[in-house]
Amino acid sequence: MKTYHLAVIKGDGIGPEIVDETTKVLDAAGKRFGFRFDYRPCLLGGCAIDAVGVPLPEETVRICKGADSVLLGAVGGEKWDTLPGHLRPEAGLLGIRAALGLYANLRPARIFAPLKEASPIKSAVIGEGLDIMVVRELTGGIYFGARGRREIDGVPAAYDTECYCVPEIERICRTGFALAQKRDKRLCSVDKANVLESSRLWRETVTRLAEDYPEVALSHMYVDNCAMQLVRNPRQFDVLVTSNLFGDILSDEASMISGSIGMLASASLAGGGFGLYEPIHGSAPDIAGRGVANPLAAILSGAMLLQYSLGEPEAAQAIELAVNGALAALRTPDIWEEGCKRVGTKEMGDAVAERLPG
Ligand code: IPM
Ligand code: MG
Repeated sequence: MKTYHLAVIKGDGIGPEIVDETTKVLDAAGKRFGFRFDYRPCLLGGCAIDAVGVPLPEETVRICKGADSVLLGAVGGEKWDTLPGHLRPEAGLLGIRAALGLYANLRPARIFAPLKEASPIKSAVIGEGLDIMVVRELTGGIYFGARGRREIDGVPAAYDTECYCVPEIERICRTGFALAQKRDKRLCSVDKANVLESSRLWRETVTRLAEDYPEVALSHMYVDNCAMQLVRNPRQFDVLVTSNLFGDILSDEASMISGSIGMLASASLAGGGFGLYEPIHGSAPDIAGRGVANPLAAILSGAMLLQYSLGEPEAAQAIELAVNGALAALRTPDIWEEGCKRVGTKEMGDAVAERLPG
């Protein structure tokens, strides 16, 4: 039987709970569609700091590089918040993105039919639903630019820098165009070209690339306007492509429009099919270990893995259908509404797995 090798990073907080449900669902999908998984656990973030003193052990990079792809729960927590920047759990996350060359972060914001009422946006605005793909550059920009502390006129100061080179902009924008081609053929590039020089280069570059994608309608929007438009009329968007920092912010906003941040999956792709898959929510230390976390974003990240890295689109679709089915009757506390049964992490995972008959 075909075996896929996955590096599995459970991480911190609710990470282990939601990853367990994800592997349960992936195994069920494998049984149904004729493949299996070999999981290789590794450490990242707070648990790695506790075990070996650094947030990104070399061993983890090695295991990930040797795998077909990577499944990640979440990293971080208060316990490690006072450590210096380079030793914080988040440094592990940024480090693994860089080490694995995961430059393209895909964050789909969709409304699942049973959750229409969960969106804080009026149903008249949501209309038939919502399906936005945020494409965020993930290994460049201000996250990785020069930074430091210094003194200016005798007072402490700090700086971070946004810098993008043309090849970096080209590859992420090509990802955006390619996705738009397969969807509704609309690409909106988000920048701050009225102020930032790096945004002006971004805009020039994406405009030039558009010649290669005549069937895709390219538009440009300033990031402040985009933040407003996402709430005013989210249906105007198909694919958004943007920088690391703007994408971080806009993807959280887009996720909430779709009801709960507990529902949104993500893929971080290197060229050539390799990817890391994680829910976009964090480690939620406040509810960790209580068995109440919503595992669906992690499970849907597993579906994205099947689709984008393993070439198993039918299995991916079956998981999405199973999630929709489970949502019709069952809800974790974050998305609970009157008339639905309130369930915990495990019951939700079981409900999805059961809907994938072998
Ligand atoms: C995300 C997170 C991370 C980021 C943090 C935890 C470093 O917010 O994946 O969106 O800013 O990229
Ligand atoms: Mg974020």
